[in-house]
Amino acid sequence: MAASDSRRDAGLIPPHGGRLVDRVLTGEARQEALAQAVELPKISLNARAMSDLELLATGGLSPLEGFMGEADYRRVLHEMRLASGLVWTLPITLAVKRDAAQPLKQGSAVALIAPWEDVLGILHLEERYEYDRSQEARLVYGTEDPAHPGVAYLLGRGEVLLGGPVDLLQRPALRGFEEFRLDPADTRALFRELGWRTVAAFQTRNPIHRSHEYIQKCALELMDGLLIHPLVGKTKLDDVPSEVRFRCYRALVQHYFPEDRIALAVFPGAMRYAGPREAAFHALVRKNYGCTHFIVGRDAAGVGNYYAPYAAHDLLRSFRRDELGIEPLFFMETFFCRRCAAVVSTKTCPHGAAERVALSGTRVRELLRRGDPLPPEFTRPEVAAVLAEWAQSR
Ligand code: ADX
Repeated sequence: MAASDSRRDAGLIPPHGGRLVDRVLTGEARQEALAQAVELPKISLNARAMSDLELLATGGLSPLEGFMGEADYRRVLHEMRLASGLVWTLPITLAVKRDAAQPLKQGSAVALIAPWEDVLGILHLEERYEYDRSQEARLVYGTEDPAHPGVAYLLGRGEVLLGGPVDLLQRPALRGFEEFRLDPADTRALFRELGWRTVAAFQTRNPIHRSHEYIQKCALELMDGLLIHPLVGKTKLDDVPSEVRFRCYRALVQHYFPEDRIALAVFPGAMRYAGPREAAFHALVRKNYGCTHFIVGRDAAGVGNYYAPYAAHDLLRSFRRDELGIEPLFFMETFFCRRCAAVVSTKTCPHGAAERVALSGTRVRELLRRGDPLPPEFTRPEVAAVLAEWAQSR
């Protein structure tokens, strides 16, 4: 790194574990690996594994360089730490069926392919180990209920985990928002260029409603910039599809935010719905993208009624600040209050629940299905228009 770069870098938050992982092969090394891959045994990746591969190789999951081996996996499950002691809350693993794992030799390379058979990457297989899916469900999701979407996914996985570093050769296209695909190195370069020393990240898997907008703006009052970082990997079927959500984000930014204080980029991760553990994971990962603060509201990364509304706050507070590195910005439930005639929160509004305009995701889906308008206290009209158009087209 040139001296001037390192001076400018001094203002950026270090990645988790201190070094930004880069395992994206380019040029000749990539060509060689692609040629080699033809001869290798192949493992077909599903949507989540493709997301994880991209995040691992681009440094989004630094310090991880690949799918977890057993020592990391076990300590993450039981203590929310990697074997090194570094805080880490979700297992990042590659599962295969026992008979697919059987012929694979430890110490050899495996081609990771897309369902449409393109070679996406290489796994340098170091470990192969069995695991207990019920135990993982209990420890990570706090439930073994197969109705929980994260648990349902887990219960359907293969019985063997493959661990080892990965190389990325190719990534699946992102329909509709390729230009918003910024790797951690890109967002870091952007923040440096913009001179942002404090950046709050906003994780979301939903269209941005006014409650979300409110907490983003509260954060923006105090920060140099805001990274709106919607997750666009696999979500559960009744979540609004990512390309529709993305149109909502663009409409909102265009009409309601000063564009020079916002960075909008996609987070190519897949949703686990692991509540507090996933919210902490989302925070750590945004540190790798160069963010100094992370917005955590009500029921972050939750689903149904599996988690207490502020379980993510409690978990994040249980770590020392220097262990997390990124500073959580905690928000209580926000809603539009008719008496206040504003979006407020349980922290700032004295009026009762009867004054609130607050809609659940289920209620929103219901209104959209019926072609009823979303109330302007709840959703900006420009965002509501995108959602209505999508709902009508279904
Ligand atoms: S998440 O699964 O990506 O966390 P979602 O997109 O619904 O879910 O929420 C994004 C962020 O906004 C999370 O930090 C969540 O806690 C917060 N949030 C969503 N709705 C509210 C609300 N009404 N009040 C406070 N925080 C909220």
